[in-house]
Amino acid sequence: MNNRTPLPHRGSYGIDAPFAPAFMAAMAALEFALAFFSGKRLPLLAGLFILAILAFYLHGTLRGKFVLWARLLESLDLRGDERILDLGCGRGAVLLMAAQHLTTGRAVGVDLWRTVDQSGNSAEVTRRNAVAEGVADRVELHTGDMRALPLEDGSFDLVLSSLAVHNISGRAGREQAISEAVRVLRPGGRLVIVDVRATGQYQAHLASLGMHGVARRWLGWRFGTARLVTATKPAGRNQADPVAVPRRSAGAPAESGT
Ligand SMILES: C[S@@+](CC[C@H](N)C(=O)[O-])C[C@H]1O[C@@H](n2cnc3c(N)ncnc32)[C@H](O)[C@@H]1O
Repeated sequence: MNNRTPLPHRGSYGIDAPFAPAFMAAMAALEFALAFFSGKRLPLLAGLFILAILAFYLHGTLRGKFVLWARLLESLDLRGDERILDLGCGRGAVLLMAAQHLTTGRAVGVDLWRTVDQSGNSAEVTRRNAVAEGVADRVELHTGDMRALPLEDGSFDLVLSSLAVHNISGRAGREQAISEAVRVLRPGGRLVIVDVRATGQYQAHLASLGMHGVARRWLGWRFGTARLVTATKPAGRNQADPVAVPRRSAGAPAESGT
């Protein structure tokens, strides 16, 4: 994979799960105060350790994620006429990079705009980012739950999701989101998910839905616990009879890890 996809640079993309870094900063401050008043070294070391984790986290959310997806999108070899869906698009970090690969295609983002999952999250901010990145003509936003997508069966060539599906609490809900992703893919369409948790569950559920080439891999220490899950929707017995994904099914296959 090379890195020719331009990183978005004019928009503003916020911080993922903003309470996590705020908590880390508060803990580090507490340790430094303890070190100052006790004169001991252990809390000082603990504070420095927490600061290092905080820096790693902020780097991931402000830059690492963009570098990773630039490479992934480049490796997909898009023609430019695809219909792409981003599940849990948030402020558009991945959605708008994907849109930069399109000419006549369309990049569709679905989200509930939860600010607990991304700071300053809103459809309006994402719309402004699309204008700032010069791709507003190819971008469509929907407010909706990825467990019940307000979208037609088989209407996308590519479904993406970045750090979003794990935000759904409960295995059945996450599997429902995966089933919905498969439902809206056209036969032969591709699915690419990056997430920090529950990816073994996505892998098992995709296999149980009859998806082809289901694979999961760790992305390396620079991306922490993030794993990549990929799969392709088979054409079924004929093009008109793709793999059937009931709209509201939530099967529970054996889990092969998280
Ligand atoms: C950590 S943010 C990631 C946003 C974006 N994908 C990115 O990588 O910058 C997770 C996103 O998932 C969205 N989300 C959480 N649960 C959702 C659900 N059930 N349906 C749709 N979106 C959801 C949140 O609103 C948030 O925008």
